[in-house]
Amino acid sequence: MEIIVCDDYDQMSKKASEIVSDIIKENPKAKLGLATGSTPVGMYENLVKDYEDGKIDFKEVSSVNLDEYVGIDKDNPQSYQYFMNEHLFDKVNINKENTHLPKEDGSLEESVKKYDKLLEEFGQRDVQVLGIGPNGHIAFNEPDDKLNMHTSIINLKEETIEANSRFFDSKEDVPKQAMSMGMADAFNAKTLLVLASGKNKHKAVEKFMHTDKIETMFPMSFIALHPNCYLIVDKQAYEG
Ligand code: GLP
Repeated sequence: MEIIVCDDYDQMSKKASEIVSDIIKENPKAKLGLATGSTPVGMYENLVKDYEDGKIDFKEVSSVNLDEYVGIDKDNPQSYQYFMNEHLFDKVNINKENTHLPKEDGSLEESVKKYDKLLEEFGQRDVQVLGIGPNGHIAFNEPDDKLNMHTSIINLKEETIEANSRFFDSKEDVPKQAMSMGMADAFNAKTLLVLASGKNKHKAVEKFMHTDKIETMFPMSFIALHPNCYLIVDKQAYEG
């Protein structure tokens, strides 16, 4: 694992985007695993700039996303589909038909099965971008006695609802469930790019730096198992 400590959010975003850009330059048909949340916004801005500057081309790039809220329409500005359109898909020449997020299609059970099938067909990604929750969650895999390998419906923990309420008018508006890739799915990539920025990630980053245990109660600890993982953090996340 390579741990890169950056001065600030901008430097972290630049470093992350350089890694993704290089992967796309090397393989114009790159398969990306994408993440939402405030952390990767700067990385997407840099990727859009690289595209506008003619450095990278998304024409043949395809993508899958980690997760999506349950019970939220894809046109709702709080949906992760909306986020991806806004921050990347609408700003580059990616073919939207080659971009995929978990979505409700039939019952929840059927939707989960469909996303698992899609992930299986999509195959291994060249890179998977991951953020972490303040409690160390990965995608929406919350700390628990057991973690899912594959797609599932997750009941969000109170602390996650709290953390994500900043994007909603009120805490009551935050969905209580999400559909999320499991841990095996989330790690099915040649390269993992784990990003953490800001004070509210310090507890998780510090715990990761000081533990030598893999714990389901701390999903982030599993990134230590990946053979090609970058953990890119800013000073605030690293030092508190
Ligand atoms: C959300 C998402 C995660 C994301 C994390 C951090 O709940 N499900 O995929 O990595 O929490 O979000 P943020 O970057 O906004 O802090």
